[in-house]
Amino acid sequence: MSHERLPTDTPAVVTVGLPYANGNLHIGHLLGYVSGDLYARALRRVGQQTAFVCGSDMHGTPIAVNAAKEGVDPEEFALAYHEQYTERFPQFNVDFDNYGHTHDETNTELTREFVSSWIDQGHIVEQEIEVAWDEQADQPLPDRYVEGTCPYCGERARGDECDEGCQRHLEPGEIENPTSVLTGNPAEYRKREHKFLRLSDFQEYLNGFLDRLEGTEKARNQPREWIEGELEDLCITRDMDWGIDYPGEDGDDLVLYVWVDAPIEYVASTKQYTDRVGSEEYDWEDVWKPGGETRHGTAWDDEWTDESGEIIHVIGSDIIQHHCVFWPAMLRGAGYNEPRAVLATGFVGIDGKSLSTSRNRAIWAEEYLDTGFHPDLFRYYITTGSGLEHDVDFSWDRFAERVNGELVGTFGNFCYRALLFAYRNYEGTPEADVSDGVRERIENAVADFEDAVADYDVRTLGSLAVELAQFGNEYIQRNEPWHLVDEDPEAAEQVIRDCVQLAKACAVLAQPVMPEKAATLWDQLDEDGTVADATLDGVLAAPSATFDEPEELFTQVEDEQIEELNETLRDRVETADEKTASDESADEDATGSTEKADTAEEVDTEETDGDAAAELGVDPLETDRISFEAFQDLDMRVGEITAAEPIEGADELVVLSVDIGVEQRQVVAGLKQLHDVDGLPGTRVILLANMERAELFGHESNGMVLAAGEEADLLTTHEDAPLGSRVR
Ligand code: 2FM
Ligand code: ZN
Repeated sequence: MSHERLPTDTPAVVTVGLPYANGNLHIGHLLGYVSGDLYARALRRVGQQTAFVCGSDMHGTPIAVNAAKEGVDPEEFALAYHEQYTERFPQFNVDFDNYGHTHDETNTELTREFVSSWIDQGHIVEQEIEVAWDEQADQPLPDRYVEGTCPYCGERARGDECDEGCQRHLEPGEIENPTSVLTGNPAEYRKREHKFLRLSDFQEYLNGFLDRLEGTEKARNQPREWIEGELEDLCITRDMDWGIDYPGEDGDDLVLYVWVDAPIEYVASTKQYTDRVGSEEYDWEDVWKPGGETRHGTAWDDEWTDESGEIIHVIGSDIIQHHCVFWPAMLRGAGYNEPRAVLATGFVGIDGKSLSTSRNRAIWAEEYLDTGFHPDLFRYYITTGSGLEHDVDFSWDRFAERVNGELVGTFGNFCYRALLFAYRNYEGTPEADVSDGVRERIENAVADFEDAVADYDVRTLGSLAVELAQFGNEYIQRNEPWHLVDEDPEAAEQVIRDCVQLAKACAVLAQPVMPEKAATLWDQLDEDGTVADATLDGVLAAPSATFDEPEELFTQVEDEQIEELNETLRDRVETADEKTASDESADEDATGSTEKADTAEEVDTEETDGDAAAELGVDPLETDRISFEAFQDLDMRVGEITAAEPIEGADELVVLSVDIGVEQRQVVAGLKQLHDVDGLPGTRVILLANMERAELFGHESNGMVLAAGEEADLLTTHEDAPLGSRVR
C-alpha cells in the first residue's frame, strides 16, 4: 500500500528497530539499518523533511542474561555495546540524526509519562498471575530466563516470544514445559501482582489502524489474525532490577517490560534531535503529537488528515506484533499519533540457513570492514538483491559478481568513460542542450524514484541509478562518440552532453544507496553544494561547464580475495553446523530481532522423482534450489513478436523482432521447423531481456524467447498484461 502524497507539509521520522545492546553486529542486523537509512535519504530526495532516529535497547532479559553470563553489571555491559554501535553505524554510512539509548534520561522520563498517562486514562489494570520461578536459584524467571514450548505452534520458544516458530509474543506463564536457563530445572510457578495494559480498550481502534497502515504486505496483514477475538491484556511489568521502574506508587519492586520503554525511544530519540537542532529546524511534536486546537492534524480521526505526522518504522519481521498491535495501542493510550507505515524486512542467511550469533554462523560487520570493500558496495548488494520483505542469502561469489558486473562494469564504467571523454575532449561539459530522448529517460527515472518512495520500494530505490547507467552505456556504445568526434563534431558534443547529464542524474539517484560514491561522483562533476542536498528537481539542470580528470569510482573485486573469504566462511559454517548437530538445544543467542532460529530455517529438500519424470518424457526436477534473489535476476518481460524472418542457411533459426514496450529487441530463436514463421507476428511471448548478447549466423541476438519442451511451445500470457510487464 503506497503513500499518495509526498512530500507533505509536516516532517517525517524514519526509525529502525532498536538493536539490543548485547553483542556484535553482523550483516543480518545491517540490512534493516541500511534499508532505513536508504529510505530516509530517499524521502529527503523528494523534498520531505525527514529525521532518521534510533537508539540502543538497553533493558530487559536480553541484556540481563548476557551480562550475568559475563559477570558484569548490566548497565556497564549495555553501555559498552551502545558505544560500539554509535561507531559502527556511520562506518556503513548509516547516519542517524539522533542515536540515543533507552536508559538515558529523555527516554526514562518519557516512558514514565506514557505509563502515567495510561494509568490516568484507566487503561492499566492489576492482576495476580503465576510467574515462572527457579527454586534452586531462588529467583523469578521473566522472559528469556525461561525457555519451553510455544502454546500456539508447538515450536521451541523463549519466555516472551516464539522466536523459532510463529513469532508470537508470549505473556508470562503462557509458555509450556518451562525450563530455567539458569539451572536447567523445570520452572515452578509463584503468584505475583503485575500491571497490565488493557489492550481490549483498543480493539476497535486497532482494526481501523490496520486498514490505514501502509508499508510491506506482511506487516499489514499478519497482525490481523492476532487481533481476532478479544485482545488479551499485555503484562507491562517484570520482577527484575534492571529496567525503568514502574511509575505508580505501588510499583516499587517492579520494572517495566522492555517492550514498553523500547519503542518509546523512537519518540525520545526524535525529541533529542529537536533539543539539539531547535524546533525551528525540526519539531518532534509535529510528528508525534496530534494537533488538537493548537497543533495541526489529529490521528484520532479514522482518516488521515493532510497534516498528520509521518512515522515510518523499519523492523525485522519477527517484531511485527510489537509494532503493529502493541505499539499503536500504547501510542493511542498516551494521546500520540500512530505510525503511518511499517516496513518489515526479511532475514539474511548464508547457504539457505539463518545467521546465528551464538554459533558464529555470520559475517560480522567488523569483518566486512576489514576486507577493505567499501561500505557502499555492501549497501547496494544487500538492498537490491531481493525485495525488502524477502530473505536474502549472502554469498561472497554473488557479491563479487554483482559488484564487478553492476557497479564496476555498469555504473562505474559508464560514469568514468563519459566523464573522461568529456574531460579529454571538452575539459568538461560540451555546449549543447540535453537531447529530448535522454531528457525523457532521466524524467522517467525520476518518476520511478518518486513512485518507489511512495511504494516504500527500497529495492527499486537502490537499483534505479545502475539502470540509468546501463542506459548510458548502451547510449554511448550505440553512438560511438569516439568516431563522431572527427566525423561529426557537433553530434559528438551532443552525445557527450547527454552522457554528462546522465552521470549527474546517476549521482543524485544513487545517493540514498551509495552516499559516499555518489558524493565522489558529484565532486568529479564539480557540482556546487553536496549531492546529499541535491533534490530530484535539479537532475536536469546543466552540469558544470568544466571539471577535472575523473578517477574510477570502483575497483574490481579479485577472485583470490573471494576465494579466501569463501574458505573462511565455509570453515565457519561447517563448525556452526557441527555445533548444531551436537547441540540440539535452542540457540542461546540473545540478539533477537534479525536472526531467525536455525531450526526454523532448515530447508527441506524434496527428493526428485526421476522415474516419474522419465515416464512423462520430461527432465527430472532440479534438486539444487535457487534463492529468490537469483530468480529476481532474471528480467523476463511480456513481449509481442512484430516480425519474423528465417535465416538463410540455418536449419532452425529465425530472426524475431520483439516489442517489449520500452524497446524493440532483435532475437534469434530456433523456431523455424517447429512453427509457421509467417504466423509468428502478433504472438505474445515472454522474453528473457537480460540474457547475454550473442551473435548467430551474423545476426545479433539480444534476449531469449521462452519456450517449453521439444516442440518449442512458446510461453505466452493468459490475460493482457501490458507489453514490457515484468514476469515475477
Ligand atoms: O527485537 C529486538 O531486537 C528489539 N531490541 C527491538 C526493539 S524495537 C523497538 F520497538 F523498540
Ligand atoms: Zn509459536
